[in-house]
Amino acid sequence: MSKKPTLLITRDMPPLVEARALNSYDARLNREDKVYNPDSLIAAAKGADGLLICGTEKMTAEALARLPSSVKIIACFTAGYDHVDLAAAKALGIVVTHAPDALTDAVADITLLLLLGAARRAGEGEAIMRQGGWDDIHLLSMTGSEIRGKRLGILGMGRIGRAVATRARAFGLEIHYHNRSRLDPALELDAVWHEEADFLLKCTDILSLHCPSNEASRNFLNAERIAQLPEGAIVINTARGDVVDDDALIAALKSGRLRAAGLDVYRGEPNNIHPGYARLANTFLLPHIGSATVETRTGMGLQALDNLEAYFAGKAPPNRLV
Ligand code: 8YV
Repeated sequence: MSKKPTLLITRDMPPLVEARALNSYDARLNREDKVYNPDSLIAAAKGADGLLICGTEKMTAEALARLPSSVKIIACFTAGYDHVDLAAAKALGIVVTHAPDALTDAVADITLLLLLGAARRAGEGEAIMRQGGWDDIHLLSMTGSEIRGKRLGILGMGRIGRAVATRARAFGLEIHYHNRSRLDPALELDAVWHEEADFLLKCTDILSLHCPSNEASRNFLNAERIAQLPEGAIVINTARGDVVDDDALIAALKSGRLRAAGLDVYRGEPNNIHPGYARLANTFLLPHIGSATVETRTGMGLQALDNLEAYFAGKAPPNRLV
């Protein structure tokens, strides 16, 4: 019987994922969930045939070059892969895969939660209740903004962007989008396509970011672009923190140029985040929980294993990046 491949799994996995991994691999688990540093990761990978990694493992060109030559595939637990230097992996002949499907609905749900939370001041409301109730009974106290009839601008109309559009239509939002390529009519439906991202901004009341973090998108939402949004617009980010210029966004929220922001991702995650966001009342903030359901996190792990199983069976991994 052929030897099971050795798989290093860098984080503590949901039970179903761990069980399947133990069944198919000589799996090196991390039940203590102690986050590896580059040195301990390289040491733990000794003799491994593959890695199953999360966003916490930064696979830079330097880290990839130090990996044992036995490592032939890196399967990302995540949809995003900005923590892996794909070009360096390709140059080393290491296959890299990701898990883009399992989290689509969970992240789209959180996007609508952030959208509603920001527009209807849910964060402030929550805070008032945790302080024991309210005194200001003026009829306009705590009033937020309607979303029905507003223009939702989706930057990045991939799986998650389209799932957000489906949910937003039910709330009566008008869908506008920019994407690297125009969608087929069957996917585009009634959404309005904007070839230039800057044109999208001009006709967007609520901007929702769903683009990957890469050279082209880093700092996309800077002061110049924020100035193109209509006065009182709302910004939602469930993509990556470095797609936004923190100082520019915070300044626009502080001045009221932007009405509010709903954020789930941040530059400097998990605990070196710009303090300006938490100081603002018109921000609705979550700690990167877009995909945080047991069903979704299990699905992400199983999708990563699907890619590994295909590879070790000599088949093409379904979600191969390089
Ligand atoms: C992860 C994500 O949960 O999959 C992604 O790209 O951002 C999230 O689903 C996050 O990276 C934490 O590991």
